[in-house]
Amino acid sequence: MTVIETYQQRTPLSRRHFDAASLAIPGGVTRSLNAWPPYPTYIDAGDGKHLRDLDGNRYRDFLGNYTALPLGNTNEAVRTAVTDQLRTGSVYSFSGDLEARLAAMIVGRIAGMERVRFTGSGTEAVMFALRLARAATGRPKIVKAEGGYHGTVDDVMVSNRPPADLAGPRDRPNSVPEMRGIPESRVHDTVIVPFNDPEATEAILRQHHTELAAIIVEPMLGVGGMIPATAGYLQRLRSICDELGILLIFDEVITLRLAVGGAQSFYGVTPDLTTMGKVIGGGLPIGAYGGRADLMALLEPGRGTDVYDARSGGPVLYQGGTFTGNALSLAAGIAALTQLDHPALTALNAHGDHLRDTLNNRLRGARHQACVTGRGSLFNVHIGPTTVDTFRDTRSVNASGQHDFFLGMLNRGFVLAARGMGCISTEHDTLDIDDFVDAAIDAIADLAPRRADISSGSDAASTDLSPQPLEATQ
Ligand SMILES: Cc1ncc(COP(=O)(O)O)c(C=O)c1O
Repeated sequence: MTVIETYQQRTPLSRRHFDAASLAIPGGVTRSLNAWPPYPTYIDAGDGKHLRDLDGNRYRDFLGNYTALPLGNTNEAVRTAVTDQLRTGSVYSFSGDLEARLAAMIVGRIAGMERVRFTGSGTEAVMFALRLARAATGRPKIVKAEGGYHGTVDDVMVSNRPPADLAGPRDRPNSVPEMRGIPESRVHDTVIVPFNDPEATEAILRQHHTELAAIIVEPMLGVGGMIPATAGYLQRLRSICDELGILLIFDEVITLRLAVGGAQSFYGVTPDLTTMGKVIGGGLPIGAYGGRADLMALLEPGRGTDVYDARSGGPVLYQGGTFTGNALSLAAGIAALTQLDHPALTALNAHGDHLRDTLNNRLRGARHQACVTGRGSLFNVHIGPTTVDTFRDTRSVNASGQHDFFLGMLNRGFVLAARGMGCISTEHDTLDIDDFVDAAIDAIADLAPRRADISSGSDAASTDLSPQPLEATQ
């Protein structure tokens, strides 16, 4: 039986649900990346490290809502905090005390966060941080890395996964809109640099610097393939930004979970602004941005009474959001961060190291065309390349092989992202990691006959080494 036939045999109720859901929802799902061929798996329940689908199949969850759930699916302290809070309300018109409590935890943990504001999502955090950078510098353009993903606001939906024929030279990447609907003006105002190439990045920043408000960069490309920045790259960015008056923004929406102080703590580089989300909400919707107090002061109310209009006394920057700072997300976030202390994160990261070491060793030993990248508790299995150090290395990912690997892992009872991204939760033990590695080797071995066909040129469909389709949204 093929991998797809096995998948279909295991998931008839998901198939039926997909047909029904598609009558009301385009593609049967709200989040684009949850649509995949032949049809998505629909989840019925989560419990600790497990997910259960509509057909009753149980999976070990190595995705944790795309890295947002390092404590697993039903953490008891988070559940208690949320249900207790729900008794007295979910979101009020005015601020309560939880906002300042979670803010104090974040400011206390992260060196670059002198002040913080909450948002409804990581996307919103990025949107506000970029606006703040433009307001503070008076400059129109922003810079991002090719392959960097920062949510779905127009400014950063540029060159997330550009097609090879449009991407331009490696050291001078083009600004390529990710999809139709991104205004040309946004694309024009977004300058692209090659991640982990300090010389080329510096040259581009120098060329445009009078127009550049900020560079936004992930300390490790997350959606772009879990590719860690070299320490030298981030340090170089810090010194060029200081010299040229460009603000440095670290997007730690994914990487914050790597250390109490975020990735900036172990890279030893303090950005001007940081964006975050996911883990700080304990599984409920949230985002946050913050940084230097003098920059964040632009959000402070002025002396007047018109909250919208800086000219008549409001803040320079107005921030709205009906559900921003809702008490449920804040309560969940406090309960989650309380548990995510140094020992807990160190143990999570050790499990991730173990997974990468054993899987890479076995892949090399069996001479499989695949590798696993990442850092700490975050990883990405790439089918095709045997090393991935830069975003363009992911071009040799075999799209159909990657998808079959994903389905093959589902068939073996493991959830990870279709593009191979995964992460560890505190619910996993060493046995889970070893089982994951065994299943991954098995699933990759199943792809091997097709690779033999590829090298002999006999399987036209599988010789397509074009990049994977973009799974932009998280
Ligand atoms: C680095 C990064 N920034 C921003 C975002 C957007 O966050 P959200 O999905 O909460 O809008 C994501 C989402 O995955 C992300 O990975």
